[in-house]
Amino acid sequence: MAELRVASAPLLEAKGLVRNFGGLAAVRDVSLSLRPGTLHAVIGPNGAGKSTLVNLLSGHLVPTSGKILFEGRDVAGEPPWRMTQLGIGRSFQRTNLLTSLTVLENVRLAAQAVSAVSGLRMLRPASREKQLIVAAFEALERVGLAGAAHRQSGLLSHGEQRQLEIAMTLATRPRVLLLDEPLAGMGPEESERFTHLLKDLAHEHAVLLIEHDMDFVFAVADWMTVMVDGTVLAEGHPADVRANPEVQRAYLGGHA
Ligand SMILES: Nc1ncnc2c1ncn2[C@@H]1O[C@H](COP(=O)(O)OP(=O)(O)O)[C@@H](O)[C@H]1O
Ligand SMILES: [Mg+2]
Repeated sequence: MAELRVASAPLLEAKGLVRNFGGLAAVRDVSLSLRPGTLHAVIGPNGAGKSTLVNLLSGHLVPTSGKILFEGRDVAGEPPWRMTQLGIGRSFQRTNLLTSLTVLENVRLAAQAVSAVSGLRMLRPASREKQLIVAAFEALERVGLAGAAHRQSGLLSHGEQRQLEIAMTLATRPRVLLLDEPLAGMGPEESERFTHLLKDLAHEHAVLLIEHDMDFVFAVADWMTVMVDGTVLAEGHPADVRANPEVQRAYLGGHA
């Protein structure tokens, strides 16, 4: 099963991706392949270029050079809304919700963002609204927040807000999920629940996970890319990455 998954065609690929900020090369010649059914973790110290990579893949930044292939088609430089339509969903390192709205309203808005191009636009407004609510509830159930649908988003715990963000991403019906440090600020209990959710999601989507908690990453990842200074230092199965002397020297320290 694992071999089959790894052998499947990539959904999203970066090829020789470069992004400069003035004189700084934040991402330098990064290539990676994200395959369906895979939880692919990207690790690396602060400033390694992980968030920049996610921003390039989600269309929030335009690459200086290099290719981004979605199902083999070059989509580099497409705007975020287009990437969302294609099926590339993302969550942000910093929270992105409208705290004065209810949980349901936030997810419904996210669902609406893709409805303009889906079959929904053919429906009468009332039916369309119903479909949006259905999609929103489905996403909330998926992350275990359906019971909190009518609560004000700003009053949720930090962990619940992160779950809500995942629901908002799921409401856009993505095929690829780009998650930038989704565990940031979660307590141990919340993280554990989140771990189960992530593993479930990885079976149906291709998940690219940025995370700095090493124990967590090694426990959940099917595949790993290690970034240092904007480049890929190593890539492979977690066990091989952990054993890689260069990775240990550059990054893991006493952790391996
Ligand atoms: N919008 C920006 N403008 C200028 N420099 C940036 C910008 N975004 C990131 N950088 C720089 O690019 C490098 C990589 O940052 P980032 O991708 O956020 O790393 P990571 O997510 O791995 O911590 C850092 O040196 C950071 O200061
Ligand atoms: Mg970051």
